[in-house]
Amino acid sequence: MNATTATLTATVTKAVIPVAGLGTRFLPATKATPKEMLPVVDKPAIQYVVEEAAAAGLEDVLMITGRNKRAVEDHFDNNTELEHALATKGDTARLDAVRRVTRLAHMHHVRQGEPLGLGHAVLCARSHVGDEPFAVLLGDDLIGPGEGLLERMLRVRARYGGSVVALMEVAPDRTHLYGCAKVEPAGGAGSAYDAHDPLVRVVDLVEKPAHGTAPSNYAVIGRYVLDPAVFGLLEKAQPGHGGEIQLTDALRELAHSDDHPVHGVVFSGRRFDTGDRASYLRTIVELACERPDLGPDFRSWLTDFVRAGHEAPGG
Ligand code: G1P
Repeated sequence: MNATTATLTATVTKAVIPVAGLGTRFLPATKATPKEMLPVVDKPAIQYVVEEAAAAGLEDVLMITGRNKRAVEDHFDNNTELEHALATKGDTARLDAVRRVTRLAHMHHVRQGEPLGLGHAVLCARSHVGDEPFAVLLGDDLIGPGEGLLERMLRVRARYGGSVVALMEVAPDRTHLYGCAKVEPAGGAGSAYDAHDPLVRVVDLVEKPAHGTAPSNYAVIGRYVLDPAVFGLLEKAQPGHGGEIQLTDALRELAHSDDHPVHGVVFSGRRFDTGDRASYLRTIVELACERPDLGPDFRSWLTDFVRAGHEAPGG
């Protein structure tokens, strides 16, 4: 970790990653394999998320796991048999790749006994996190490596305190898939909006608003920096959308209070959604195209494939 990163994260050291979901959208692939372990090119999706946390200086990672998640725990643990086999063969490149995963962060695990929702999953982190601000990263959202979104959010927390959510503008017909925010310019109504580093104050939040009722097109994407005050609200929270304890509802209460601001960092960079099959496929294609080792050949094959596909119906 370099000095600048150390300063940014002086008060936030822990990342919480909920991985207790059942992955039903990917059945039968996820019958015995956690959805977080589905490969995106040659790394499981969850590895990108842990790499992002580590790159932002958050090297204490707590996974909120459920049944069937042993593979996630094993992925970040040593595999001495495999390492020995690779070392014996002299396959140092693969040996390094395998060892690097283990060294990314200090991994901790806690079980979410019942699938009561994202808010409940975050509440399960309470005894590990204690009375400190912390980050939450959702595994379905991959943020392009090097985008620096989490670092920006940590800077906002360091400057203003309170909690911070990542927001992204989505098409109006997609707001019902997200938590949506009502926002004001960060310095209060009438203050200047910096288009290069857009920051807003969140004044209201709605989880998965019905069509046509969203307070704006600003959707919460899966990155949060939370004040520990959120735990008290989650403990008292009633089931919300879908009968689940919603993190969005606890954040709405914070946003309505005077002493715990909720800010929104507006993100327009590269975000990949691995949450459903079509967007998962697009993620793999995009990230494979970007890879220096695979990209050139893969792009040229893809171009031929698409061209052939377009020409086929007309002959
Ligand atoms: C969760 C949150 C939602 C947020 C979304 C981002 O929903 O509840 O507020 O917008 O993640 O990906 P999920 O996609 O888990 O249903």
